[in-house]
Amino acid sequence: MPLLTEDTQLGGQKVERVVFTSEVIQQRTAELGREISAAYSASDRLLVLGLLKGSFLFMADLVRAIQLPLHVDFMVASSYGDDKKSNGDVRLLYDAAASLKDRSVLLVEDIVDSGHTLGRLIPRLQARGPSSLEVCALLHKRLVELEPPARWVGFDAPNEFLVGYGLDYAEDFRHLPYIASL
Ligand code: PRP
Repeated sequence: MPLLTEDTQLGGQKVERVVFTSEVIQQRTAELGREISAAYSASDRLLVLGLLKGSFLFMADLVRAIQLPLHVDFMVASSYGDDKKSNGDVRLLYDAAASLKDRSVLLVEDIVDSGHTLGRLIPRLQARGPSSLEVCALLHKRLVELEPPARWVGFDAPNEFLVGYGLDYAEDFRHLPYIASL
């Protein structure tokens, strides 16, 4: 696929470099699916909780790679607005409807950057009494360590502004099948 198509030059921003191709993402997602399938059993009543909007594509691919009975639910949180830097004000726009009590919960995030989002959400989720709470993040910039650390990470990411495969800049670029830097 040519990189600089019309949809890669939006709002005065231009995709500069593909960091993770679609093929590499699919391969790694399949590996994560196998590891997660091996870590749980059917009796865990696994709930895979996707954090929107950024994780929508990763979530869709990851759950199809997990070979266990599971339920899915979503939360919507936002803190970047149209900015390239987190403002630290993590707003929970939609909360999961599913009960977390006594269930194994896997929180799926597209990227850990400043860590503000998960730092804010993890204690809220833990307070609901899941039997376990683990994080699977596709990308981790390793600028901060979460407490507890993400159990599964797809890729260590460069400290650049990344878009595509769910990640946006001012809502543009989410639909790109690869991850690129601006
Ligand atoms: C982005 C991204 C992560 C979070 C990571 O979400 O999708 O959820 O920021 O950054 P942090 O570690 O610095 O908190 P955003 O708030 O932009 O909302 P979105 O998922 O709708 O894009």
